[in-house]
Formats: sequence, structure tokens, C-alpha cells
Amino acid sequence: MENTRVPVALGERSYDVVIGERLMDALIASARVLKPTSIFLVTDSNVGLLHADFVRNAIVANHVFTVPAGENSKSLRVLEGLFDDVFATRKLDRQSLVVALGGGVVGDLAGFLAATLLRGVRCIHVPTSLLAMVDSSVGGKTAINHQTGKNLIGAFHQPVGVFCDLHFLETLPAREYVSAIAEIVKTAAIGDADLLAYLETNTDALLRRNPDVLRHVLARCISFKASVVAEDEMESGRRATLNLGHTLAHVIEAALPEEFLHGEAVAIGLVAALRLSVAHAGLDAVQARRVGDLLARFGLPVEVPAGLTTDRLLEIMASDKKRAGDVIRFIVTPEIGRASVLPCGLDGNLAASLLGRT
Ligand SMILES: NC(=O)c1ccc[n+]([C@@H]2O[C@H](COP(=O)([O-])OP(=O)(O)OC[C@H]3O[C@@H](n4cnc5c(N)ncnc54)[C@H](O)[C@@H]3O)[C@@H](O)[C@H]2O)c1
Repeated sequence: MENTRVPVALGERSYDVVIGERLMDALIASARVLKPTSIFLVTDSNVGLLHADFVRNAIVANHVFTVPAGENSKSLRVLEGLFDDVFATRKLDRQSLVVALGGGVVGDLAGFLAATLLRGVRCIHVPTSLLAMVDSSVGGKTAINHQTGKNLIGAFHQPVGVFCDLHFLETLPAREYVSAIAEIVKTAAIGDADLLAYLETNTDALLRRNPDVLRHVLARCISFKASVVAEDEMESGRRATLNLGHTLAHVIEAALPEEFLHGEAVAIGLVAALRLSVAHAGLDAVQARRVGDLLARFGLPVEVPAGLTTDRLLEIMASDKKRAGDVIRFIVTPEIGRASVLPCGLDGNLAASLLGRT
């Protein structure tokens, strides 16, 4: 079957996201056109063991740098180690290419490396997790974490190409795979009512990682994100609507670290955001229930964990980047397929609504 190409239209920084199976030929062709003087492949310890040799041989990468798998690698310490390794090769120049092979952690880290090396060298993303394919590899956000919070040090740096090769998903652990489906359902809720219906019909096939279904879902999600990024690359407006469900998700991740994967926290956050949308943005309660039911059918959590108290919720939200004074800007969906911003007072009413404990 032909590969699917989704363009991200950003003027002279435009690029394609290629979706297909066994994409190495397309990747090799792209690397040839770019004529890099050196290629630095960055991966993590899990993906590296499984897939790095294959990719390295295909693109003839000069150097492979492997970071420990996991969120902790999005750190200044690991980044500094990568700078040391890259400079030690003496092969870096403005025509070098960084290839990020891995999930969102590797994409964010290697993307930031590429953004900062010599004030910016080119980067190709080869996402291997479902989350990285549907979300993090597209749009140019790169970042590492600081002990104060996640993603606080970063840059916008668009890749020159993204290659979503479905065969990598065969080795992705089930919990990681399912967790990313929350971001897919989010896309449907804010921008693609047809996708929601498609997911309802194809739940089992998506869970079985059916390649045709995955291709369709990836193309829809990436096309939607590409259109949002093309309109608002730096997140001064519409791009913020991609954060539906994420405010509560961040609270859950901060309050109960280790308990939930990001996508699982997003699933709970989505249901809470839809509760808010029913109460304050006119969303039909039946439609909100549809989304909650779908998330549950995928095996995702939908209830706010009992351990999260109102006080803790308000305390964590008080330090949210999206807060201005006592008001926080929530993303809501007035109807499936549309999103808007709802300024909310940071108080007990909001907490009760979010927690679903009214
Ligand atoms: N830049 C953005 O726009 C953006 C958007 C959303 C999320 N993110 C970031 O993405 C990160 C989460 O991404 P993630 O969920 O991919 O996490 P991850 O990169 O940690 O990958 C999850 C786990 O799956 C493993 N893995 C990945 N692909 C595999 C494969 N094919 N086979 C076997 N194991 C595989 C990884 O080693 C890791 O253990 C977070 O740091 C988040 O902040 C960034």
C-alpha cells in the first residue's frame, strides 16, 4: 500500500509526515536529499535494543547515542551528556542531522538538542510510540524538564521530516499503546466528530493494532494537528485547544506521580473537561457520555482518583502556567468536533465540577 503523506504547511519550514509500514526507503531517500555532513541518531535504551541497528544501517548514521528510557532523561544532565558526546565526535557542523528514534521523551530531548546545537541543526523524527506518532513528533515543540516542572526549558524547532512507521508499534508495550489512545479520543472531541464515530466502530480493531485502522487514525489525528499548527505555530491562540483535558491531567500527574501514564491521566482529564463543558459550555450530556464510554471501552481510567482532594487540586492548579490571577483558562468543547476557551475562577465550585463530586 502507498505511504500516506500529511503536509505541515509552515512556509519555508514546511515538511511532510509520512505514515506507512517499512518506511526505511522513504527515510533513506529523504536523508539523501538533505545531504547531511554527519548523522547523529538519538534513541533510548528500550527502543535502541529493538530497532536502532536497523535504522542506523539504513540511514548510515555516524553515531548512535542511547539515553536511559523514561521521563527522567528529559533533563539538563542527560542533555549535557549528549552535547559532550556530539562535540567529542568532531563531526558537528551546520549541515549535520539529528535523527530522533523513540517515543515522546527521545523526540523532545533530541529535538531540543537539534534546536540548540550551533543555534539549530536539522532534525528528523522517527517516532516509535503511538503517542509520539499521533502527537509529540508533529508541531515542533521540544523540551526538557526542570525540577520546578515539566517541559519548562525548551524551544519551537520544526523537524524537516517525520516518519511514522507502523511496524515499530508491534513492540510497544500494551499499556503504553492504550494510554496514547486518550490523545486520539481528545483529537476527535475537539476537532473531528467523524473520527469519534470511527473509533466507536473500530474500537477492537484499534486495540488489536490493525494496520489499516491505525493508518486511518494516524492520518486523521496528524492532519488535524498539522492544520492547527499551521494556523498557530507558537501557541498564541488555537493551538492551546489541543490541551483539552490536560489541566487536570497535569494535576493528577503532579499529585500522584508514578500512578498513571500521561495518556491515562489525560483520559480522566478529558472526562472532567467534558463535565465542565456540559455545565458551562452547552455540551449535550449524551455526547459527553459517549466520549467517557469510549475511553472506558479502550480500558482507560475515567474516574478521578479518590486520593486527589479539593485542596490539593486547587494548590497544584494555582501554579499552572495557564493561570492569570485567580482565573484559569480551561479548554472546553461546546459540541463534539469543536473547542473553545472558558475562563474559570480557581475556587471550590470549579474543583467540585472537575472532581465530579458535586
Ligand atoms: N512535544 C510535544 O508536542 C509533546 C506532546 C505530547 C507529549 N510530549 C512528551 O512526550 C513524552 C511521552 O511520550 P511517550 O508516551 O512516547 O513516552 P516515552 O518516550 O517514555 O515512551 C514510552 C515507553 O515506551 C518505550 N517505547 C517507545 N517506543 C517503543 C517501541 N516501538 N517498542 C518498545 N518500547 C517502546 C520507551 O522506551 C518508553 O519506555 C512526555 O515527555 C511528554 O511531555 C511532547
